Amino acid sequence: MTIASAPGKIILFGEHAVVYGRPAIAVPVREVIATAEVTDIIQAAQGEIHIEAPDIKLDSWLHELSADHPLSRIINLTLDEIDPGTFPPLRLHITSTIPISSGLGSGTAVSIAVVRALSTHLDQPLPLQRQSALAFEVEKIHHGTPSGIDNTVVTYDRPIYFVQGEEPEILQSETPFTLVIGDTGQTSPTAVAVSQVRVAWQEDTSKYETAFEAIGQIASQARECIMQGRAKELGPLMNQNQALLEDIGVSSPELRVLIDAARASGASGAKLSGAGLGGNMIAMVDPDDADRVMIAMREAGAVRTLRTEVST
Ligand code: MEV
Repeated sequence: MTIASAPGKIILFGEHAVVYGRPAIAVPVREVIATAEVTDIIQAAQGEIHIEAPDIKLDSWLHELSADHPLSRIINLTLDEIDPGTFPPLRLHITSTIPISSGLGSGTAVSIAVVRALSTHLDQPLPLQRQSALAFEVEKIHHGTPSGIDNTVVTYDRPIYFVQGEEPEILQSETPFTLVIGDTGQTSPTAVAVSQVRVAWQEDTSKYETAFEAIGQIASQARECIMQGRAKELGPLMNQNQALLEDIGVSSPELRVLIDAARASGASGAKLSGAGLGGNMIAMVDPDDADRVMIAMREAGAVRTLRTEVST
Protein backbone atom coordinates (compact mmCIF):
# COMPACT_ATOMS: atom_id res chain seq x y z
CA MET A 1 0.00 0.00 0.00
CA THR A 2 1.23 3.54 -0.76
CA ILE A 3 -0.16 6.69 0.85
CA ALA A 4 0.64 10.25 -0.26
CA SER A 5 -0.82 13.63 0.57
CA ALA A 6 -0.75 17.29 -0.43
CA PRO A 7 -1.76 20.44 1.49
CA GLY A 8 -4.32 23.15 0.81
CA LYS A 9 -3.22 26.67 -0.09
CA ILE A 10 -4.19 30.30 0.10
CA ILE A 11 -3.26 33.21 -2.12
CA LEU A 12 -1.78 35.85 0.19
CA PHE A 13 -1.51 38.55 -2.49
CA GLY A 14 -2.08 38.87 -6.22
CA GLU A 15 -4.91 36.54 -7.28
CA HIS A 16 -6.36 37.27 -10.74
CA ALA A 17 -3.55 39.75 -11.58
CA VAL A 18 -1.23 36.72 -11.63
CA VAL A 19 -3.19 35.34 -14.61
CA TYR A 20 -2.15 38.52 -16.46
CA GLY A 21 1.58 38.20 -15.78
CA ARG A 22 1.83 40.06 -12.45
CA PRO A 23 3.55 38.55 -9.37
CA ALA A 24 1.60 36.87 -6.57
CA ILE A 25 2.33 35.21 -3.24
CA ALA A 26 0.81 31.91 -2.12
CA VAL A 27 1.35 29.83 1.01
CA PRO A 28 0.50 26.21 1.81
CA VAL A 29 -2.15 25.48 4.43
CA ARG A 30 -1.09 22.24 6.08
CA GLU A 31 -4.04 22.12 8.48
CA VAL A 32 -6.12 20.71 5.60
CA ILE A 33 -4.93 17.95 3.24
CA ALA A 34 -5.88 15.64 0.40
CA THR A 35 -4.76 12.03 0.72
CA ALA A 36 -4.51 9.27 -1.91
CA GLU A 37 -3.95 5.62 -1.04
CA VAL A 38 -3.04 3.00 -3.67
CA THR A 39 -3.42 -0.73 -2.96
CA ASP A 40 -2.95 -3.82 -5.14
CA ILE A 41 -6.18 -5.78 -5.59
CA ILE A 42 -6.75 -9.21 -7.05
CA GLN A 43 -10.30 -9.33 -8.36
CA ALA A 44 -9.72 -7.46 -11.67
CA ALA A 45 -7.63 -7.53 -14.85
CA GLN A 46 -4.07 -6.19 -15.14
CA GLY A 47 -3.88 -2.39 -15.42
CA GLU A 48 -7.43 -1.78 -14.13
CA ILE A 49 -7.82 0.98 -11.53
CA HIS A 50 -10.79 1.22 -9.21
CA ILE A 51 -11.36 4.72 -7.82
CA GLU A 52 -13.11 5.47 -4.54
CA ALA A 53 -13.62 9.12 -3.60
CA PRO A 54 -16.37 9.12 -0.95
CA ASP A 55 -16.24 12.92 -0.49
CA ILE A 56 -17.61 13.36 -4.01
CA LYS A 57 -19.61 10.07 -3.92
CA LEU A 58 -17.47 8.54 -6.65
CA ASP A 59 -17.02 4.77 -6.86
CA SER A 60 -15.98 3.78 -10.36
CA TRP A 61 -13.48 2.00 -12.58
CA LEU A 62 -11.09 4.34 -14.38
CA HIS A 63 -12.31 3.19 -17.80
CA GLU A 64 -15.90 4.17 -16.84
CA LEU A 65 -14.99 7.84 -16.27
CA SER A 66 -15.06 10.33 -19.12
CA ALA A 67 -11.63 11.36 -20.41
CA ASP A 68 -12.08 14.96 -19.21
CA HIS A 69 -13.00 14.01 -15.64
CA PRO A 70 -10.26 15.59 -13.47
CA LEU A 71 -9.44 12.25 -11.79
CA SER A 72 -9.29 10.29 -15.01
CA ARG A 73 -7.16 13.08 -16.50
CA ILE A 74 -4.59 13.11 -13.67
CA ILE A 75 -4.38 9.30 -13.52
CA ASN A 76 -3.88 9.00 -17.29
CA LEU A 77 -1.34 11.84 -17.33
CA THR A 78 0.61 10.10 -14.58
CA LEU A 79 0.53 6.72 -16.35
CA ASP A 80 1.62 8.33 -19.64
CA GLU A 81 4.47 10.09 -17.85
CA ILE A 82 5.87 7.03 -16.06
CA ASP A 83 4.90 4.45 -18.72
CA PRO A 84 4.81 1.54 -16.25
CA GLY A 85 4.04 -1.29 -18.75
CA THR A 86 1.76 -3.95 -17.28
CA PHE A 87 0.85 -3.52 -13.63
CA PRO A 88 -1.49 -5.32 -11.22
CA PRO A 89 -5.03 -4.05 -10.74
CA LEU A 90 -5.14 -1.22 -8.23
CA ARG A 91 -7.53 0.49 -5.88
CA LEU A 92 -7.14 4.27 -5.50
CA HIS A 93 -8.85 5.68 -2.42
CA ILE A 94 -9.03 9.49 -2.20
CA THR A 95 -10.08 11.61 0.77
CA SER A 96 -9.74 15.31 1.48
CA THR A 97 -10.35 17.67 4.37
CA ILE A 98 -10.06 20.68 2.02
CA PRO A 99 -13.46 22.28 1.29
CA ILE A 100 -14.33 22.01 -2.42
CA SER A 101 -14.60 25.11 -4.69
CA SER A 102 -13.69 27.50 -1.90
CA GLY A 103 -10.29 28.92 -2.85
CA LEU A 104 -8.21 26.51 -0.76
CA GLY A 105 -6.86 24.44 -3.65
CA SER A 106 -8.82 21.22 -3.12
CA GLY A 107 -8.72 20.06 -6.76
CA THR A 108 -5.00 20.76 -7.05
CA ALA A 109 -4.17 18.97 -3.81
CA VAL A 110 -6.13 15.90 -4.95
CA SER A 111 -4.21 15.90 -8.27
CA ILE A 112 -0.84 16.11 -6.53
CA ALA A 113 -1.72 13.44 -3.96
CA VAL A 114 -2.81 11.09 -6.79
CA VAL A 115 0.36 11.71 -8.85
CA ARG A 116 2.50 11.03 -5.78
CA ALA A 117 0.70 7.90 -4.61
CA LEU A 118 0.39 6.32 -8.07
CA SER A 119 3.91 7.04 -9.33
CA THR A 120 5.49 5.94 -6.03
CA HIS A 121 3.40 2.76 -5.91
CA LEU A 122 4.55 1.90 -9.43
CA ASP A 123 8.19 2.49 -8.34
CA GLN A 124 8.72 5.66 -10.37
CA PRO A 125 8.29 8.64 -8.02
CA LEU A 126 8.31 11.86 -10.00
CA PRO A 127 10.33 15.00 -9.22
CA LEU A 128 8.39 17.99 -7.87
CA GLN A 129 8.61 19.91 -11.12
CA ARG A 130 6.95 17.06 -13.05
CA GLN A 131 4.26 16.59 -10.38
CA SER A 132 3.42 20.28 -10.68
CA ALA A 133 3.40 20.19 -14.50
CA LEU A 134 0.92 17.28 -14.55
CA ALA A 135 -1.40 18.99 -12.05
CA PHE A 136 -1.23 22.16 -14.17
CA GLU A 137 -2.82 20.23 -17.06
CA VAL A 138 -5.77 19.36 -14.80
CA GLU A 139 -5.96 22.97 -13.55
CA LYS A 140 -7.05 23.86 -17.06
CA ILE A 141 -10.28 21.93 -16.40
CA HIS A 142 -10.78 23.64 -13.00
CA HIS A 143 -9.66 27.14 -14.02
CA GLY A 144 -9.89 27.65 -17.76
CA THR A 145 -6.72 29.76 -18.01
CA PRO A 146 -4.69 28.97 -14.89
CA SER A 147 -1.56 30.91 -13.98
CA GLY A 148 0.05 27.83 -12.42
CA ILE A 149 0.38 29.33 -8.93
CA ASP A 150 -1.94 26.80 -7.26
CA ASN A 151 -0.21 23.65 -8.53
CA THR A 152 3.18 25.19 -7.74
CA VAL A 153 2.50 26.13 -4.10
CA VAL A 154 0.71 22.86 -3.37
CA THR A 155 3.54 20.81 -4.89
CA TYR A 156 6.43 22.68 -3.26
CA ASP A 157 4.58 23.02 0.05
CA ARG A 158 6.43 26.27 0.82
CA PRO A 159 5.49 29.97 0.63
CA ILE A 160 6.21 31.15 -2.92
CA TYR A 161 6.55 34.35 -4.89
CA PHE A 162 5.26 33.43 -8.32
CA VAL A 163 5.33 34.96 -11.77
CA GLN A 164 3.78 32.96 -14.61
CA GLY A 165 6.43 31.25 -16.76
CA GLU A 166 9.27 31.86 -14.27
CA GLU A 167 10.87 29.58 -11.66
CA PRO A 168 8.98 30.07 -8.37
CA GLU A 169 10.93 31.81 -5.62
CA ILE A 170 10.69 30.06 -2.25
CA LEU A 171 10.12 32.82 0.31
CA GLN A 172 12.29 32.69 3.39
CA SER A 173 10.41 34.50 6.13
CA GLU A 174 12.48 36.19 8.83
CA THR A 175 9.63 35.92 11.31
CA PRO A 176 6.62 33.61 11.20
CA PHE A 177 3.19 35.22 11.12
CA THR A 178 -0.34 34.09 11.90
CA LEU A 179 -3.33 34.06 9.58
CA VAL A 180 -6.91 33.08 10.21
CA ILE A 181 -9.10 31.78 7.40
CA GLY A 182 -12.88 32.08 7.23
CA ASP A 183 -15.18 30.21 4.88
CA THR A 184 -18.31 31.98 3.62
CA GLY A 185 -19.82 28.56 2.85
CA GLN A 186 -20.62 29.78 -0.66
CA THR A 187 -18.92 27.52 -3.19
CA SER A 188 -17.41 29.37 -6.11
CA PRO A 189 -15.77 27.48 -8.99
CA THR A 190 -12.51 29.21 -9.95
CA ALA A 191 -13.29 28.94 -13.67
CA VAL A 192 -16.41 31.11 -13.25
CA ALA A 193 -14.57 33.99 -11.52
CA VAL A 194 -11.57 33.76 -13.87
CA SER A 195 -13.76 33.92 -16.96
CA GLN A 196 -15.90 36.75 -15.51
CA VAL A 197 -12.69 38.77 -15.04
CA ARG A 198 -11.55 37.92 -18.57
CA VAL A 199 -14.78 39.21 -20.10
CA ALA A 200 -14.59 42.43 -18.04
CA TRP A 201 -10.87 42.85 -18.97
CA GLN A 202 -11.77 42.52 -22.65
CA GLU A 203 -14.47 45.20 -22.24
CA ASP A 204 -12.33 47.66 -20.27
CA THR A 205 -8.71 46.61 -20.69
CA SER A 206 -7.20 49.84 -19.45
CA LYS A 207 -9.13 49.83 -16.13
CA TYR A 208 -8.25 46.18 -15.50
CA GLU A 209 -4.59 46.52 -16.49
CA THR A 210 -4.25 49.49 -14.09
CA ALA A 211 -5.77 47.43 -11.27
CA PHE A 212 -3.58 44.39 -12.08
CA GLU A 213 -0.48 46.58 -12.11
CA ALA A 214 -1.34 48.01 -8.67
CA ILE A 215 -2.02 44.51 -7.32
CA GLY A 216 1.33 43.28 -8.68
CA GLN A 217 3.11 46.15 -6.92
CA ILE A 218 1.43 45.24 -3.64
CA ALA A 219 2.62 41.63 -4.08
CA SER A 220 6.19 42.72 -4.65
CA GLN A 221 6.10 45.08 -1.63
CA ALA A 222 4.73 42.18 0.43
CA ARG A 223 7.63 39.98 -0.71
CA GLU A 224 10.09 42.53 0.72
CA CYS A 225 8.15 42.71 4.00
CA ILE A 226 8.15 38.93 4.38
CA MET A 227 11.83 38.56 3.57
CA GLN A 228 12.85 41.37 5.92
CA GLY A 229 10.64 40.18 8.79
CA ARG A 230 8.32 43.22 8.58
CA ALA A 231 5.19 41.07 8.86
CA LYS A 232 3.26 43.87 10.62
CA GLU A 233 3.11 45.74 7.30
CA LEU A 234 1.32 42.87 5.57
CA GLY A 235 -2.11 43.65 7.10
CA PRO A 236 -2.46 47.12 5.51
CA LEU A 237 -1.21 45.69 2.20
CA MET A 238 -3.96 43.04 2.40
CA ASN A 239 -6.54 45.82 2.85
CA GLN A 240 -5.21 47.61 -0.25
CA ASN A 241 -5.30 44.36 -2.23
CA GLN A 242 -8.91 43.74 -1.12
CA ALA A 243 -9.98 47.22 -2.29
CA LEU A 244 -8.59 46.44 -5.76
CA LEU A 245 -10.25 43.01 -5.80
CA GLU A 246 -13.53 44.79 -5.07
CA ASP A 247 -12.85 47.17 -7.97
CA ILE A 248 -12.43 44.24 -10.36
CA GLY A 249 -15.70 42.74 -9.15
CA VAL A 250 -14.63 39.48 -7.47
CA SER A 251 -15.66 40.15 -3.86
CA SER A 252 -19.13 39.32 -2.54
CA PRO A 253 -21.35 40.67 0.27
CA GLU A 254 -20.66 37.51 2.32
CA LEU A 255 -16.89 37.90 1.93
CA ARG A 256 -17.20 41.56 2.87
CA VAL A 257 -19.10 40.75 6.09
CA LEU A 258 -16.37 38.34 7.24
CA ILE A 259 -13.60 40.76 6.23
CA ASP A 260 -15.26 43.60 8.18
CA ALA A 261 -15.77 41.34 11.22
CA ALA A 262 -12.09 40.33 11.18
CA ARG A 263 -10.90 43.93 10.92
CA ALA A 264 -13.31 45.13 13.63
CA SER A 265 -12.15 42.43 16.05
CA GLY A 266 -8.43 43.18 15.79
CA ALA A 267 -7.05 41.81 12.51
CA SER A 268 -4.50 44.19 11.01
CA GLY A 269 -5.80 43.41 7.52
CA ALA A 270 -8.10 41.06 5.65
CA LYS A 271 -8.96 40.11 2.09
CA LEU A 272 -10.59 37.41 0.02
CA SER A 273 -8.28 34.61 -1.06
CA GLY A 274 -8.35 32.71 -4.34
CA ALA A 275 -10.84 33.33 -7.08
CA GLY A 276 -13.43 35.12 -4.89
CA LEU A 277 -17.20 35.50 -5.53
CA GLY A 278 -17.51 33.33 -2.40
CA GLY A 279 -15.12 30.83 -0.88
CA ASN A 280 -12.62 31.89 1.76
CA MET A 281 -11.18 35.09 3.17
CA ILE A 282 -8.00 35.48 5.19
CA ALA A 283 -6.98 37.88 7.95
CA MET A 284 -3.61 38.83 9.41
CA VAL A 285 -3.65 38.61 13.19
CA ASP A 286 -1.47 38.91 16.23
CA PRO A 287 -1.26 35.31 17.59
CA ASP A 288 -2.90 36.42 20.86
CA ASP A 289 -5.90 37.82 18.95
CA ALA A 290 -6.48 34.77 16.70
CA ASP A 291 -9.22 33.16 18.83
CA ARG A 292 -11.11 36.43 19.25
CA VAL A 293 -11.00 37.16 15.52
CA MET A 294 -12.14 33.62 14.62
CA ILE A 295 -15.08 33.88 17.05
CA ALA A 296 -16.07 37.22 15.50
CA MET A 297 -15.88 35.70 12.02
CA ARG A 298 -18.07 32.76 13.04
CA GLU A 299 -20.59 35.12 14.65
CA ALA A 300 -20.63 37.04 11.35
CA GLY A 301 -21.52 33.85 9.45
CA ALA A 302 -18.30 31.94 8.69
CA VAL A 303 -19.20 28.25 8.38
CA ARG A 304 -15.62 27.25 9.18
CA THR A 305 -12.55 29.02 10.52
CA LEU A 306 -8.98 27.89 10.88
CA ARG A 307 -5.69 29.28 11.98
CA THR A 308 -2.39 28.77 10.22
CA GLU A 309 1.17 29.88 11.01
CA VAL A 310 3.22 30.93 8.00
CA SER A 311 6.91 30.10 8.24
CA THR A 312 9.46 28.48 5.98
C1 MEV B 1 -6.84 30.92 -7.84
O1 MEV B 1 -6.33 30.33 -6.67
C2 MEV B 1 -5.98 32.06 -8.26
C3 MEV B 1 -6.41 32.78 -9.55
O2 MEV B 1 -5.49 33.84 -9.72
C4 MEV B 1 -6.40 31.85 -10.74
C5 MEV B 1 -5.01 31.42 -11.17
O3 MEV B 1 -4.01 32.05 -10.80
O4 MEV B 1 -4.91 30.43 -11.92
C6 MEV B 1 -7.80 33.39 -9.39
